[in-house]
Formats: sequence, C-alpha cells, structure tokens
Amino acid sequence: MNDEDKNLSDGSAAHDATQRTRRKILKAGTTVAAGAVIAPLLQSSNADAAPNTDGARTLILASHPYPERSVVNKALWEVAQKAPNASFRNMESVFGNKLSSFDRAAERKRYEQMERLVLIYPTHWFNLTPLLKAYLNDVWGAGAPPELRGKELLVVTTTGGSERDYSREGSLGFTIEEVLTPLRASANYTGMKFAKPLVFFGASGDSESLGRYQEALRARLA
Ligand SMILES: Cc1cc2nc3c(=O)[nH]c(=O)nc-3n(C[C@H](O)[C@H](O)[C@H](O)COP(=O)(O)O)c2cc1C
Repeated sequence: MNDEDKNLSDGSAAHDATQRTRRKILKAGTTVAAGAVIAPLLQSSNADAAPNTDGARTLILASHPYPERSVVNKALWEVAQKAPNASFRNMESVFGNKLSSFDRAAERKRYEQMERLVLIYPTHWFNLTPLLKAYLNDVWGAGAPPELRGKELLVVTTTGGSERDYSREGSLGFTIEEVLTPLRASANYTGMKFAKPLVFFGASGDSESLGRYQEALRARLA
C-alpha cells in the first residue's frame, strides 16, 4: 500500500499538483471485465499533475482527448499519480492541443533511467489518442530513440466494447491483442518489451467497477 504523497511538479509545465486522495486498494488481476463488484470507490481528483521525474523508474503518459467527459480514465489517473517510483503526466494538461514540436531531447532524457513506459488512454476508433500518436511521431520520430531499448512498454486502455466483442466470435471479430498490433510492432521496432496489456473492457463508470479498475492498475504499477 502506497500512502505517500508525491511531490508533483514538472519544469516543463506549470501545473500544480492536484489533490491526492487515499483509497483502499485490494489485489487484482490483469484484465478486468466491467460490472464486477468491489470495494467502493473513494473520491476522485482531476489528476492533471506531473511528478518530479528524477530517477523515476516508471514513466506514465496518460491521455484523453475529452478529459471533461472522462470517467474511467480519470479514475485510473488517481492511482497512476500515486504509483511508487513513477512519474505521471497528463498529456493534454502538459501539452495542450499541440500536435508537434515536443522537446525530443528532454523526453529522451526522461527515458534514460526509466525501466517502464506506461500509456494510459481510452480506445477511440481502435487506436491511440491523437496526442499520444503525435507525441510518438515527434519524440520517437522516424527512428527509435536508443534510450527505449530494453525497456518495457505497458499499455493500459479502456474500451466501450466488451471482452466478448473483442474476440474472433464477437461483433468486432478481432481480439484486443490484434487491435494493439501497431503498438506491439512499435515495441519490437524500438527494442522495447511489450508487456501484457491491461485492458478494461466495457468500461463502466459505476463506482464499484471503477474501484475494481483502480485495484487492477494499482497492482500492475506496484
Ligand atoms: C470518439 C469515440 C470513439 C470510440 N471508439 C471506440 C472503439 O473504437 N472501441 C471501443 O471499444 N470503444 C470505443 N469508444 C468507447 C470508449 O473507449 C469508452 O467510452 C472509454 O474507454 C471510457 O473511458 P472514459 O470514461 O475515460 O472516457 C469510443 C468512444 C468515443 C467517444
């Protein structure tokens, strides 16, 4: 259980730390279906903050193009912000709507001591968010930053479709592993290790489901 407050600040953005809330998180599995009953969700925060990245072993990039409408990702951000030895950045808060001119050198510097890069985003049109994609285009460029080599890539995504939908027999006809092929290929291309994705299928905004999602994320970020 990590109950420490983190000193959230980021020289690249003028976003102060948002409120930290404590929550009771239990142990959880890897893939979580919606609707499961779990301990009640505690209060939420806007989660815009970016912790000090010095020496952080886990870099978390969270993105949502419509944060004001988000329920599920917002709940995940609360846990991600408090992950041990991790740096959390809310992409839209840090970078706004800018789709280019990221500071490639600064981002590469962040990768040096990192062991794991975590992307948290809602699946929209079976893809990354525009800002995450723009970040990869700009920072990873046409070639792979060598600092990524050997590091882990963990994808955390929420979907409207159910686990059944994401199956060969389901309405979509593709598994989530197949849908995530571009990121798996990107991991291969950059020399990263593609970790088993954490997928919240049929993501539901009821407090019991949110609590379960939070538990699962907490376990993976421990
Ligand atoms: C523009 C848009 C596109 C979406 N595309 C997909 C999709 O391709 N596959 C899917 O399973 N869900 C899709 N959804 C549902 C979202 O994934 C779901 O609402 C989201 O993960 C819930 O998280 P949030 O509360 O943080 O927004 C889409 C939703 C929107 C608004």
